[in-house]
Amino acid sequence: MDIHDIILDKRYGKSLTKEQIAFFIDGVTDKTIPDYQISALLMAIVLNGMDPAEMTELTLRMAHSGETCDLSAISDQIVDKHSTGGVGDKCTPIILPLVASFGVPVVKLSGRGLGFTGGTIDKLESVKGFRTEIPISDFPEYVNRCGAVLSAQTPELAPADKELYSLRDVTGTVDSIPLIASSIMSKKIAGGANAIVLDVTCGDGAFMKDIDSAAALSHAMIDIGRIAGRPVTCVISSMREPLGHAVGNILEMREVEEFFNGTMSDDLRTVCLTLAASMLRMSGHKEAQDFPVAYALCEDNVRSGKARDAFLSFIRSQGGAVRADGTLEYRDRPVLRAEIFADADGYVHEVLASDIGKASVRLGAGRKRKTDNIDFGAGIMVHKKIGDFVIRGDCLCSLYTGENGLADQSTVNDASTLVRSAYRIASDAPAKPVEIIDILN
Ligand code: URA
Repeated sequence: MDIHDIILDKRYGKSLTKEQIAFFIDGVTDKTIPDYQISALLMAIVLNGMDPAEMTELTLRMAHSGETCDLSAISDQIVDKHSTGGVGDKCTPIILPLVASFGVPVVKLSGRGLGFTGGTIDKLESVKGFRTEIPISDFPEYVNRCGAVLSAQTPELAPADKELYSLRDVTGTVDSIPLIASSIMSKKIAGGANAIVLDVTCGDGAFMKDIDSAAALSHAMIDIGRIAGRPVTCVISSMREPLGHAVGNILEMREVEEFFNGTMSDDLRTVCLTLAASMLRMSGHKEAQDFPVAYALCEDNVRSGKARDAFLSFIRSQGGAVRADGTLEYRDRPVLRAEIFADADGYVHEVLASDIGKASVRLGAGRKRKTDNIDFGAGIMVHKKIGDFVIRGDCLCSLYTGENGLADQSTVNDASTLVRSAYRIASDAPAKPVEIIDILN
């Protein structure tokens, strides 16, 4: 078999055979196919797509390109959760302990931030002492201790995805339904989850910019899950503006702390409770089979403080520093560097999540390259969101860097310009974005 012929077949719109897909993924994994030929095939897939059979074959081959996790020693009903990425998305550190507070074991493999979307591992590592490199063999011990464990994705799981993802990131081939669906589902299958809840973000700050493409991606992942015997629920959520108020690692973890103390924005509350309720349902929890009941149970555990207890025990279990009063200790301190004020009276119509995400990365909260260091204290507090009425001079956003951050004044000025351009203010009242667009399973 020849990779050149496979590239030509896809270029002319043919469906690839199982053997061709196996040849491609084997060559990616053992690095016998050069990057330029991998990139050419990726671009042909972006342009000509894949049918469901090709997509499933690609996913399963990628899932088995390295080690796979066997979580059966913990439970045969492990539910995993994954987001297609967003700005201000701090759902995982909220949902994991919330679901664990029902006695449902949770195992989660997470990634670091790349591009303008943040990563859960970076957020949790902003807590002093928090360990994110947990060996798979230790997962049962952690789950016995506090009901949940979260670890950075190991390079041994789905290595073909790792190779492909780093090439996609630099060749303009990220936003493709077959490539995103196979990337996400291969990692979830290799990670050993029995059922999967996917937060499919949709809007300016997400890969899927409109509802039709978010629904198409959801259906692709549900189909792959069906064939692989792993039921999938997709929650399509809005990423038109940042989720909640905080963007950046320590700032977001502080917002997580506030969530467990009962102070949270409506959008963050709705998205987290919907995802947690979906996970509880899929875990087979007997009283949670009806979605509204599952949602109400999750609300109860937040209100009663059970979820907060589970959160603190999860942070302690992985070495994170918790003070005697239950607040977290962080590796740095956010310092206010600039504020953006409204230049007119009116309603906020737009807070472009992508611009806020890019400004936050510029301040130091994210990486431009995988090897960059992060400024844990950097980020943005978004005070005014879509639908809010503002008066000229009101503060829209505050920009922070850490005490140990590197951003100089000209970088802060650049970030301020981007934040200002993210806002559109007009005199008529807009409709608030709907947080949950659809739930598909
Ligand atoms: N998240 C992933 O894990 N893979 C993609 O391709 C896109 C988002």
